[in-house]
Amino acid sequence: MKLLYIGAGFVGACSAAVMADSGHGVLVYDIDKNKIEKLGSGDREQIESCLFEEGLSDLLIRNKNNIEFTIEYKKVEDFLESCDAVFMCLPTPEIGDTGESNLKYYFDAAEVLAKNLAQRNKKTQSQYVVVINKSTVPIEMINKTQEIMDKAGVKNCGVVSNPEFLVEGKAISGSLKPDRIVIGAWNQKDFEVMREVYSRFVNSPTTDYVEVNPNEAAAGKLLANYYLFCKLAICYDVIGRTCEKFENLKFENLRKIIGGDPRIGSWGMFNSFFAGGSCFIKDTGSLVHQLEKSGADVSFIKEVLRVNRYQRDNFYSRAKDEVGFNFKNKSVAVLGVAFKRDTNDIRNSGAIEIVNKLLDNGAKEIKIYDPAAMSMFQNLFDVSKDSRYKIIKYFNSEKEVLENTDACMILTDWPKFRTLADLIKTVCSAPYLIMDGRRILSAQFDELQNLGYDIISVGSPYLKGKK
Ligand SMILES: NC(=O)c1ccc[n+]([C@@H]2O[C@H](COP(=O)([O-])OP(=O)(O)OC[C@H]3O[C@@H](n4cnc5c(N)ncnc54)[C@H](O)[C@@H]3O)[C@@H](O)[C@H]2O)c1
Repeated sequence: MKLLYIGAGFVGACSAAVMADSGHGVLVYDIDKNKIEKLGSGDREQIESCLFEEGLSDLLIRNKNNIEFTIEYKKVEDFLESCDAVFMCLPTPEIGDTGESNLKYYFDAAEVLAKNLAQRNKKTQSQYVVVINKSTVPIEMINKTQEIMDKAGVKNCGVVSNPEFLVEGKAISGSLKPDRIVIGAWNQKDFEVMREVYSRFVNSPTTDYVEVNPNEAAAGKLLANYYLFCKLAICYDVIGRTCEKFENLKFENLRKIIGGDPRIGSWGMFNSFFAGGSCFIKDTGSLVHQLEKSGADVSFIKEVLRVNRYQRDNFYSRAKDEVGFNFKNKSVAVLGVAFKRDTNDIRNSGAIEIVNKLLDNGAKEIKIYDPAAMSMFQNLFDVSKDSRYKIIKYFNSEKEVLENTDACMILTDWPKFRTLADLIKTVCSAPYLIMDGRRILSAQFDELQNLGYDIISVGSPYLKGKK
């Protein structure tokens, strides 16, 4: 089949790569020239500098004859002559803190698409085409997509909702072996097209292929993300907090007791100072906004957003409240700025607010190391926009970042940070404050404490150095 992707972000690029690997002919269009050049370069380093997803570069290089990246709409117009399906993979960010989705990117792209679809096949529109919402969108969005198509006079066209469930950091392996594929359509013809698109997975014993209506598909995506967000909030803000407030409760032991119940399950049974990322917060906000508009009581849903912010702010203020440590004029090492391991995505990363707090509190120097996300962070804290950012410095190794600091904060769960205790012991002599926002050093807490290190970690009371 011939598939067009509009938007080459985490979702568009990864899904397009998997479709090319399934044997389809794929064209990917984006307005970001730099991104398109890198993704289409055929060069591993360039691809990873733009989208750091394990397996993406392999797939793009291996399937280069099946996939093309472009910023030229003329190529899109030509492709539409015989295109079977168009995947809309546009960003749908939150407008400020309102919860409302900003659909401008989606509408802009859909309107241009509709205009061109109406012109296809010398205006005869003889080629049947399906337009697919892959972006996470409001529940009744499909009606708007249909309106845009109708207004432009598009015929012989179906609209479908196919929410994306990929997990950043595992986007490729997850998309090659998805646990479910959800197709929301109003008619059999569109279901048939989608079965052909996903023929690789329709009868797979390991994938649930779910056919529902478009509103159910869109609602299912938002509700699934809210559910997962709740699980994290319970771990961080209830189980973790209980362990912080009582002596002799080890988070890892409680995790075994609680997660051992299959009704509860082990997913999300870890601790962190913040649940960030591009989806959970935004999609929960969107759910709140939509339900509020429909007159529903949303206090329970909103509480999850609040406790997540509380968890981050509380982690930061524990330095002063529990240890009496003031960040003013201090040099602080920040280990990890990606919102989680295995990605260079910093959207809603908890590190952003922590660095802002350090700036506000008059830190002398903020030293940063992250294996993948530093250039993204540097773009955000652009010194040409605010001279305060000049105290933020970037380093290429854990050792360099730790040297000559008064405290360190571990904010991302990169696996390589598990061995940081040994480095801290050699580079930062006790007394020294370790703030572990991920419990990544929990196996060495006793040892570090005995050597005189002060430790503040999510899921533990303050561990005062014993020397
Ligand atoms: N990232 C995830 O883990 C994830 C998972 C599931 C669903 N989603 C949803 O998928 C959607 C896309 O997310 P993402 O993470 O890929 O976003 P992204 O920001 O990484 O990518 C979106 C891309 O769209 C491009 N774009 C913007 N306007 C355009 C236009 N008019 N024409 C062509 N391209 C345009 C941007 O340049 C960008 O490259 C969002 O709705 C998101 O909520 C994301």
